[in-house]
Amino acid sequence: MKQVRISRRYDETPHEVYVEIEKWLLDIGDILTFDLFSTDDKFSDKSFFLAQNTPISSNDKTEIEQIRSLYIRQSDLPSYNRFVDKLVQAVARNEQIPITKKAAVIYRQASVILDEMFENPEELENVPKSKQVVNTFVNTIFSDTHAIESMIKITAYDYYTHTHSINVCIYSLSLGSYLKLDPITLEELGMSALLHDLGKSRVNPNITNKKGRLTDSEFEEMKHHPLYGYTIALKIGIRDRSILDGIRHHHEKLDGNGYPDGLMGKSITLFARIIGVCDVFDALSTQRSYKDKMSSYETLRLMKISMQHHLDMELVDAFIRMQQHDAILTSL
Ligand SMILES: [Fe+2]
Repeated sequence: MKQVRISRRYDETPHEVYVEIEKWLLDIGDILTFDLFSTDDKFSDKSFFLAQNTPISSNDKTEIEQIRSLYIRQSDLPSYNRFVDKLVQAVARNEQIPITKKAAVIYRQASVILDEMFENPEELENVPKSKQVVNTFVNTIFSDTHAIESMIKITAYDYYTHTHSINVCIYSLSLGSYLKLDPITLEELGMSALLHDLGKSRVNPNITNKKGRLTDSEFEEMKHHPLYGYTIALKIGIRDRSILDGIRHHHEKLDGNGYPDGLMGKSITLFARIIGVCDVFDALSTQRSYKDKMSSYETLRLMKISMQHHLDMELVDAFIRMQQHDAILTSL
C-alpha cells in the first residue's frame, strides 16, 4: 500500500497530530473506520465532525462540501489509505462511479506522484509517471462532459508546489480543450504544465516556503526556477520542443519584462502563454499562509485590469468564457 507523505500536518497538542484528507473522496453512505475532524480556518483548533462507524448522511455530505478542510488523526492514516485503495480499485472496475468521485481519486493519485517527483526530480521514471497522470486527466476530460467542471471543483484550496502543478495542469488542459487543441497536443501541453515548476525543487526551500514577500535577492534566486526546470526536463529525457518551451518560458511577459529570456508577444509560445495564464490564476485564487484566497471573479477581474501587458488577453478571455460556459465561476 502506498504511504501518503504528510505534507499538511498541524499539531493541535503535543500529543495529537492531524492529517488533512481529500474530502471529495467521501460520499453518502460511506462508513469510515476513523473519526473525522474539521476546521474552517487553517490555524484554528480542529472540531469533532463525525464518529467512526457512522454512515455519512446527505446532510453530512453537504456540510463536507461547505467546510474548508477535513482531518483525521495521524494514527488513523493506515485505515484511511486502505479506504482510498479500495476506492481506486472500485473506480478502475466500475464505469458507473460518478465523475466527481472519479476526479477526486485521480487528483489524489496525481498528488501522491507529484509529491514524490518533487523529492526526486531527476528520476528518469518521472517522465512515464507524468505521462500517466496527464493521460488519465485527458481521458477523463474526453469521457464525460462534466469532467472539467468536476476536476476544477476539486483543485486544492491551499498553495503547495505539487498541488499548484496539478491545478495548473488541470486548468491548462481545460483551456486547451476549450480551444479545441487535438488530443496529442493536449497531452504535450499537460506534460509541460505539470512539470512547469519542477525547477523549484532546486531553489532553497527557505525561499520557496517563505511566508510573505521575498526580498530582492531571494526573488533573483527564485527567478532561476524556469531554467532549472528546463535543465531537469532535458536531463530526464524530454526532447519535445513545445514541452521544454512551456517550462522555460511560463514567466515571460508579453511586454518583454518577464524572465529568463525577456521574450516578447507571440515569440512566447502558445504553451507558455496558456501555462502563464493558468499559473497566475491558481497562484492568486488559492490560499497561502500570508494571504487570503481570492474569489475566481476577483482574480479574473484583477488579471483583466492589471495584467494586460503581461498575459495574453485573448487567452484570459477564453479562460473566462470557459468558466462561464461550465458555470464554474459561481461555484468556486
Ligand atoms: Fe513558475
